This record gives sequence, C-alpha cells and structure tokens, in this order.
Amino acid sequence: MDKLLIEGGHRLDGVLRISGAKNSALPILCATLLTDQPVTIANAPHLHDVTTMIELLGCLGAEVVIDEKMRVEVSARQLKSLRAPYDLVKTMRASFLVMGPLLARFGRAEVSLPGGCAIGSRPVDQHLKGFEALGARIEVLDGYVTANVDGQLKGADIVMDLVTVGGTENLMMAAVLAQGTTRIINAAKEPEIVDLGHMLNSMGAQVSGHGTSVVTIQGVEALHGCEYKVMPDRVETGTYLIAVAATGGHVRLERTAPETLGAVLAKLTLAGCELETGPDWIELSMHGRRPKAVDIETAVYPGFPTDMQAQFLAMNAIADGTSTISETIFENRFMHVQEIMRLGARIELHGSSVAIVHGVAKLHAAPVMATDLRASFSLVVAALVAEGRTLIDRIYHIDRGYETIEEKLQQLGASVQRVS
Ligand code: EPZ
Repeated sequence: MDKLLIEGGHRLDGVLRISGAKNSALPILCATLLTDQPVTIANAPHLHDVTTMIELLGCLGAEVVIDEKMRVEVSARQLKSLRAPYDLVKTMRASFLVMGPLLARFGRAEVSLPGGCAIGSRPVDQHLKGFEALGARIEVLDGYVTANVDGQLKGADIVMDLVTVGGTENLMMAAVLAQGTTRIINAAKEPEIVDLGHMLNSMGAQVSGHGTSVVTIQGVEALHGCEYKVMPDRVETGTYLIAVAATGGHVRLERTAPETLGAVLAKLTLAGCELETGPDWIELSMHGRRPKAVDIETAVYPGFPTDMQAQFLAMNAIADGTSTISETIFENRFMHVQEIMRLGARIELHGSSVAIVHGVAKLHAAPVMATDLRASFSLVVAALVAEGRTLIDRIYHIDRGYETIEEKLQQLGASVQRVS
C-alpha cells in the first residue's frame, strides 16, 4: 500500500495550476447519461474517483473515450444495464448520482444503497423523497434502491428537509426530462450545483436559480450532446493555500476561481495571510510568519466548507493562540485529530462536533494513518511543518481527490516521496 514520506520544515514557494473540480466532474459525468448523443467533458481531474465513475458509466453500457488531455467523451446512446452495483457504489458514494439521470431517461434505475462512511452515516432519504415527489415508486430490497416510473416523471415542488448537495444534484438531473416544472426548495447553493446547472443547460435543459435556494427546472422532451469544461477545484485551491500558509510560504495558484472561496479567503486573512486575487488566480504570502489561530464553523455554501475543516485544523495546530473548530455538516469528521496529536498537537475534542486547538510552536514527525480524503491532507499539512520525517499510511484516500499530489508539493519545494 502506498505511503507518503514527508520531511517537514521546508517553506513552500512556487506556482501551481489547479485541477478541475472532482465534486463537479462526478455529477457532470452522471449527467452525460441524460442524452443519446456524445458529450465531451474537458478539465476532468485525473483521480481515482473520476476513474470509478467512468467505470460505472462503462458498466451501464456507455462508451467512454479519454484523450491524453483528460477530455472525456461519453456516448450513452444505448445502455445495457440500469443497475449500479454495490462494488462501485460502496467505494464511492457519488455513484448514487446515476439514479436521477437513469430514472429520467429510462423510467427505471437500480442503485445499491451506499452504506456506511468514515465521516458519518450519510443517508440518501432526501434524494428518495424527491424522486417520489416526481412520481417514482421507490423500493429498497437486498441492499438496492429500485426506482420505477410509469411513463415519465412529473414536475413538482420538492421541499428539502435539509440542504444536501448530492440530493439537489440528483433531483436536478431527474427533473430536466420530467413533464412540467419542478422547484427544488431549500436547494444547496454550492458552486458545483451552479456548474451542473450550466452543463445541463448546455445540453438543452431549462434550469434556472442554480446557486440560489430555489432551483427551477422546466422539463424538456430531450437533451442533446455538448462540450463542457469543468470548473476549477475550490477544495484543492483552499487546501494548497492552507498548506503554504502553515509553512510560512508563498504561492500563486492559477486556473482557479477565487469567487468560490470567499469564506476560506476571509479566514486565511484573519490567520495573517496576505492575499491577492485576479480573475482566475490567487496569490498568498506569509513572509515566514506563524499563522494566527482562527475559529471556524463549517456550514453549507457560502459558509466555511466542511471539506476544508481538517486542513484548517492542522494549520491551527501550529498557529499562535487557541481556536475552536465546529463541524456542523457531518457527524464524525474529526478522525484526523487523534493522528495529528501523534505529532504533538494539543487538541481537545468536545463530543463529535467541537475541537479546541491549542496552537503549539512545533510539531514532531511520527508515523500516522489517513482515514478519509480531506483528513489525509490535514496530515500532509501537519507533516510539512513537523520536525523530521513523517510517514503517512493509507494515502489511497488522498489519490481519490488530489491530482498528482507529490508532484504538486515538490513543485512548491516540499520534500515528499511516495513509498510502498
Ligand atoms: C458532497 O457530498 C461532497 N461530495 C462532499 O465532499 C461534501 O463534503 C458534501 O457535499 C458537503 O459539502 C461530492 O460532491 C461528490 P450532502 P454529499 O448530501 O452530496 C445529510 C469530499 O471530501 N444528508 O450535502 O454526499 C448528510 O448525511 C466529499 O470531497 C441526509 O441526511 O453531501 C450530511 O450530514 C466528502 N439525507 C449532510 O446532509 C440525504 O438524503 C450534507 O450531505 C442527504 C444528505
């Protein structure tokens, strides 16, 4: 199993290009199932999760061709199966997002229930409630959710009980081919929802209000092919900003989208970072300073993203002062805390949703184990500032969401090696 060996203490400095957004590419790849014409997706990141999604599309019968620039052409003219198997859904929950497109276009879908997850229970009840509101019959049997509709889905008002990114995406994709108008009320407003809305509209859908709490979808008879470029990854962007800030360094990130990172940039400014932004770039300078401790509370967009909580916590571990980190989105997203404490961090956990971090001047290398994707990168941040060589085990988690991580870190001057 691959591990990362990181020698800490190098101040990061350099220029990086940000990859396409994983959490945008995944639903967008599912949306290609909505048409019998070819769809080309550009700027898809080269990540395990994207490969898993491509495998799932292939297993449903779509033809997928990938060129050397990671432009993915999907042709779902004819499918041979409407069933997403357990093996693929259990390794990646986003596989559940094929349900909306399959149901919309073929009137039937069978998708394995995702099951447990390292960061919390993560049910899909809101997705299912929405499909039922659109006229689908839902059955759960032998670990699979089966959705059927006689004829076509029918537009409806769907009031979400809570804000869910995946739920909003799945229902948007189901509603584009429904008869009449659907309104998703209390919808998620994340930039990835906006990206999906734009992509669906490029296929001929009539989606409006994406990016607000009410998304309106006027159903159309059929969608056509398109070419679409995935937005830059805001979580990758924020993660590298945090990593560089923790080391007191400097970075210029290119091909990113600063407007999607408002809450993160505001917190980095409070931490003492000097920030400059342009239309598609962000520059951060720390001038060798130690970051100041900053409280964060995760929230739905435009609040501080849960996907950057772990990395920010790691920076706070070596910051000047004490901070409170509150996790409000997932019920179990502090698995990294025990691991960072192995490097000498002083952190108190209060229940499963609050961590009090007492910043220490130095961390010291120790072997640690990655538990989930973002938690893994928090260990990288801690290792980059720790004295000595830290070995991070189970980094397959990192490869799910960070493209060519060691090359990107090396480009910034970090001492990082992949070892097996
Ligand atoms: C998306 O997951 C992201 N994944 C996650 O990124 C991200 O952490 C999350 O949104 C929140 O921003 C992708 O986009 C592929 P949710 P998703 O539905 O859609 C509860 C990463 O590291 N809920 O918004 O699964 C749920 O349990 C990943 O890249 C229900 O109760 O998240 C959670 O507590 C991890 N019932 C909360 O809502 C439902 O039917 C938010 O989940 C659906 C969700």
